[in-house]
Amino acid sequence: MDLRVKDLLDESRIGEEIEISAWVRTKREGKSVAFLDLNDGSSLKGLQVVVDVGKKELESELERITTGASVKVRGRLEKSLGGNQSVELSAESLELIGSCPNDYPLQKKRHTVEFLREKAHLRARTNLFSAIMRVRNTMAYSVHRFFQENGFIYVNTPLITASDCEGAGAQFTVTTLDLENVPKTKDGKVDYSKDFFSKEAKLTVSGQLEGETYAMALRNIYTFGPTFRAENSNTARHLAEFWMIEPEMAFSTLEGDMEVAESFLKYIFKKVLDEREEDMAFFDSFVLKGVRENIEHVVNSPFEHMTYTEAIKILEKHNSEFEYPVKWGSDIQSEHERYLTEVIAKRPVIVTDYPKEIKAFYMKMNDDGKTVRAMDVLAPRLGEIIGGSEREWREDVLLERMKELGLDPESYWWYLELRKYGSVPHSGFGLGFERAVRYVTGVENIRDVIPYPRAVKYCEF
Ligand code: 4AD
Ligand code: MG
Repeated sequence: MDLRVKDLLDESRIGEEIEISAWVRTKREGKSVAFLDLNDGSSLKGLQVVVDVGKKELESELERITTGASVKVRGRLEKSLGGNQSVELSAESLELIGSCPNDYPLQKKRHTVEFLREKAHLRARTNLFSAIMRVRNTMAYSVHRFFQENGFIYVNTPLITASDCEGAGAQFTVTTLDLENVPKTKDGKVDYSKDFFSKEAKLTVSGQLEGETYAMALRNIYTFGPTFRAENSNTARHLAEFWMIEPEMAFSTLEGDMEVAESFLKYIFKKVLDEREEDMAFFDSFVLKGVRENIEHVVNSPFEHMTYTEAIKILEKHNSEFEYPVKWGSDIQSEHERYLTEVIAKRPVIVTDYPKEIKAFYMKMNDDGKTVRAMDVLAPRLGEIIGGSEREWREDVLLERMKELGLDPESYWWYLELRKYGSVPHSGFGLGFERAVRYVTGVENIRDVIPYPRAVKYCEF
């Protein structure tokens, strides 16, 4: 494989003849020499190329080379005398591959993330976005490493589905019906029998229900794929299209679920600390002071546990400090999540046993008949990062619950059959991948940790 900039930056190839292709970040011209800073996304630091301006064949090519251009350089790798780098490439031949006119938007200066969001097709060429994407890559790889090392089977659940996992109704419809001329039934409703799938189809909000069916065969599985929510939440932590990781484990109760969630988060965070030191140092200096230490702290501290009822008791004492005061039964919102993790526990907190009214239909009912075996992992700075539960595996209790919520058992017939044929206690959770990337990098807005964000009123590129 071709050499990359990163391969040249340690001093192991000093003295060798090298050929490298990359993009020009900057060009500085002195009287007798010019300097090019080359970057190919393999590391934050670029490769310095020194060009002897006196050499005729180099000079004419150099004139056409500008910031943003792509080039191929051949030369000898030498120890650098300059202070900013340990090696430099002394150019013997220089070839412009693709020129770059001076309306190139990424000139040498700091751009705001808002500006760069409008240039999403180019933004990975900046230090910030290349670092984010390298960390995202390391995290995706470590998700697979964690589950593969622990015997989980990777399952691809469908993106188009006819069932609503969370029962929340924030789904996008998938249709080929002519929207100018929608077929209607006798009673005036949309006639989905004329649609592509002969029924109403949606983009999935979670692969969990299908994931559960595979856990009932393979024992421990995980999904890792795109997820869609038509929530009207224009916030720094919501996307309409995001990636979710959902493990599901047979013969596992909520205790096992929480254990896996904690070791999983610690594993992927630690991999970033170990394998992306340069990028983490960059985030620490330019994005969020202390983020590295913060993540180290999360990796090294046991997560706090409390029930929803306990959490509410604590929060109620501070109701005067909240925009939304709480009482038993209310949803725990972002300000409360941050209070619990930042002020009370000073580390991640796992809250369990929520009131059934604020959680999904599939969660296992506690004996009190009021709360369910849910768990949310809350993280300082962020709030909810993971949501999970033990699943209701008793057919009669599940049916009862579905009726209570007005869900049609007919449309969940296959899900219910899992409870009929060899049912077992099982549990799982979902991690929002972008929430995790945002957390590790300290980046403020979730739209900046996915290559092309989709959100309310926003679908560019
Ligand atoms: O808490 P949620 O809704 O749980 C589920 O979907 C379950 N089916 C998971 C399971 O038990 N298998 O979503 C899980 C996680 C949240 O904790 C959050 O990190 C992330 O998904 N998430 C979002 N991330 C970005 N944008 C959104 N709109 C998100 N909604 C949820
Ligand atoms: Mg949730």
